[in-house]
Amino acid sequence: MMTDLLSKLQTPTKLQTPIVATLAEKQQESPGIYTLHLALETNSSFDFAFGQFNMLYLFGLGEVPISIMGWQHDLLLHTIRAVGRVTQPLVALDIGAQLGLRGPFGQGWPLRQLEGLDLVFITAGLGCAPVVAAIHYAVENRSKYGRIVILQGVKHHNDLLWQPQYERWRDLGDCQVLLAASEEKKRKYHWRLGMVTELLALAQFDSSHCAVLMCGPEIMMLAALKQLAKHQVSDKSVYLSLERNFQCGHGSCGHCQLGPYFVCKDGPVFHYPQIKSWFGLAGV
Ligand SMILES: Cc1cc2nc3c(=O)[nH]c(=O)nc-3n(C[C@H](O)[C@H](O)[C@H](O)COP(=O)(O)OP(=O)(O)OC[C@H]3O[C@@H](n4cnc5c(N)ncnc54)[C@H](O)[C@@H]3O)c2cc1C
Ligand code: FES
Repeated sequence: MMTDLLSKLQTPTKLQTPIVATLAEKQQESPGIYTLHLALETNSSFDFAFGQFNMLYLFGLGEVPISIMGWQHDLLLHTIRAVGRVTQPLVALDIGAQLGLRGPFGQGWPLRQLEGLDLVFITAGLGCAPVVAAIHYAVENRSKYGRIVILQGVKHHNDLLWQPQYERWRDLGDCQVLLAASEEKKRKYHWRLGMVTELLALAQFDSSHCAVLMCGPEIMMLAALKQLAKHQVSDKSVYLSLERNFQCGHGSCGHCQLGPYFVCKDGPVFHYPQIKSWFGLAGV
């Protein structure tokens, strides 16, 4: 009995054991931001939902949660901003270097359930990977959704990653792209000065038949929620992707608790009514 228990404790589960990934390609998106294209040792395709994340492990240094941007030509895509101890050496890896990968973890956007609705994407800052991945999916499955509205805020025009892609989205049928720069003094063509939440006044969508998908700083999402209520968008139409300090990534360590939820396991994408009582409160 005791031996059984010990063997359970000592055998790392699939969730805890990283698989080996090899850096096959690396693309610089802007200063300090890179997309890594990873080949997995398994060789089989990698099943995931947009909005889920992987834990990327740099041997001897540590692990970080990173959203899944896509799966292209048998390679897994992660866009990483170098901010600290693990992400800086991660983006500095040379082609052919190996790292550990656990995942996919968490709940992604319920994109299938949202078919037929207008989709409104709201994101700010550089932490836009989960929303951008969902936009890619909606664009590739254009006929399944109503109008697409993309609201993106950054501090400076040049902070916007993947600018050509936003231009392409603007040219899609029935797609509105609104961009805001909060710390610019001079207005540029197609841009507005101010916060992303101010763009909601210009957005055209059916508030009674829409889904709003948001990620970014929580202060921005709280402001957007107030604006959405003014536009008669019901809480039930809103989904948020949250970030916390993750350790295990699968609901075992408690580091990412939000009220009764673990953000890593029950999120990072939440239906807003599910977390409304806790979202924005300090210390929960
Ligand atoms: C679900 C989820 C998905 C994420 N997806 C991406 C992604 O696609 N691309 C990406 O570049 N980053 C993503 N992040 C953020 C990324 O995990 C952190 O930037 C990373 O953990 C920082 O680790 P570090 O060791 O490099 O930095 P550290 O040395 O630990 O910290 C450096 C600085 O970054 C701040 N920081 C650390 N962790 C976070 C965090 N989670 N959020 C905000 N600030 C943080 C610290 O306060 C410190 O100021 C995601 C985080 C979560 C929770
Ligand atoms: S990171 Fe361990 S419970 Fe969420």
